Amino acid sequence: MSSTPPTTTQTGAPVASDAHSLSAGPDGSIGLHDRYLVEKLAQFNRERIPERIVHAKGGGAFGEFVVTGDVSAYTRAAVFQPGAVTGTLQRFSSVAGEQGSPDTWRDVRGFSVKFYTAEGNYDIVGNNTPVFFIRDGIKFPDFIHSQKRLPGSGLRDADMQWDFWTLSPESAHQVTYLMGDRGLPRSWRHMPGFGSHTYQWINADGERFWVKYHFTALQGNEEIDGAEAEAIAGADADYYRRDLFEAIERGDHPAWKLQVQVMPYDDAKTYRFNPFDLTKVWPHADYPLIEVGVHTLNRNPENFFAQIEQAAFSPANTVPGIDISPDKMLQARVFSYPDAQRYRVGTNYNELPVNAPVAPVHNYSQDGAGRHGFTPADAPVYAPNSTGGPVADAQLAGAGSWESDGELIRSAVTLHAEDDDFGQAGTLYREVFDDAAKERFLATITGAVGAVQSDEIRERAIQYWTSVDAGLGSALRTSLAGAR
Ligand code: HEM
Repeated sequence: MSSTPPTTTQTGAPVASDAHSLSAGPDGSIGLHDRYLVEKLAQFNRERIPERIVHAKGGGAFGEFVVTGDVSAYTRAAVFQPGAVTGTLQRFSSVAGEQGSPDTWRDVRGFSVKFYTAEGNYDIVGNNTPVFFIRDGIKFPDFIHSQKRLPGSGLRDADMQWDFWTLSPESAHQVTYLMGDRGLPRSWRHMPGFGSHTYQWINADGERFWVKYHFTALQGNEEIDGAEAEAIAGADADYYRRDLFEAIERGDHPAWKLQVQVMPYDDAKTYRFNPFDLTKVWPHADYPLIEVGVHTLNRNPENFFAQIEQAAFSPANTVPGIDISPDKMLQARVFSYPDAQRYRVGTNYNELPVNAPVAPVHNYSQDGAGRHGFTPADAPVYAPNSTGGPVADAQLAGAGSWESDGELIRSAVTLHAEDDDFGQAGTLYREVFDDAAKERFLATITGAVGAVQSDEIRERAIQYWTSVDAGLGSALRTSLAGAR
């Protein structure tokens, strides 16, 4: 007798055939009461869930984070205490492209890490750049609409991209990264990662600090040029996904060193620019990098859909000793991600194995589509109760806080001397890019701005780059004239 198990329905009953529908004679109609056929087709029709509204194309793997430094003076989070070892999941992605889009289209790359810590899941959901295009979450849907597709033709459109960017000058620093070499990494393994936002750390004595995360690829950073990226996009749309999977399969485990910049709590009040402004970096001369640990990816997913597509990363997933900050973007994200995931994956998405914490979960939430876990029948379903249900820890109240200005306003207040849009973009162009990188940069923006049809938007784009660097602006004007 064969050891192959019988095919069954979803409810476990054996089925007669995977090849022939139940029909009235060889040429007759098929019967609606072919329960297995109906179940098979219905299940198939529901195989897809909505793709992520952004960062739809990606890939990932499981790994391990080992603490090699000592940052216990700044945070009490168990995951970052000396010697701690924590299981992780990492997902890489492109921002704008849809599920099937080529990995090597120029874009910012997502860099998400989930730490399955003993105190609950902690997620760092960042990018391969240390800054972002906007500094207020209320602009995010408009920004993404401008980078995706026109409603009529369904085509991407240079005019709307540059219209948005040039009317949102705070984008200049990130667009400089995007149009520079950082926009085309050789692989996910060969790029850095950043938490980008300023986060809050709290130590065992309750002292607060502001921190920025930096992941440095131990494989080194490598980039490709525009021509190679285009050739790869045509030949292998899944180039990065394949590279990561194959590297891990052959035991070539990619790793990143994690370091942080730490700002004492009170410095934020008087620093020369707003340290919670996501369009700015903190100079390393002011806040040097401090070693935390090493993150290594060592295990491929066994099922891409269950473990990568259904993975739900969120800046809202924090643990004791780590919290958010006054960054308005970060606060908007804390709402946005769990909301997206309740819709995209389902109300009880945190019960799926890839999202479930190793820490035990106790609370009074219940029911909802796809509910799997439940408490004993005699457990209380409300708080407060006098029957021994879980109790919130009053000592945690106030942790992760900061003083606020008090009044509710809608404004881009400039409280710091050097809060501007173009300064750090200019520094990146002039002082970080070498001559060859500057040449590639000019060629890239000439191509990108050259695709703009509107004379007005094109002129605004020249002014935008002139504000970044006057020489760059005039070089762009000349090269655009030559390209016409
Ligand atoms: C207020 C601004 C932002 C909003 C509203 C927003 C919203 C979202 C949403 C809804 C998703 C899809 C989540 C899902 O379905 O699982 C997403 C994914 C993502 N976002 Fe954002 N985002 C914002 C800014 C940022 C910033 C500043 C960064 C990086 C510093 C970032 C990095 C990512 C990454 C890496 C992913 C993919 C996560 C994964 O791998 O599953 N986002 N974002």
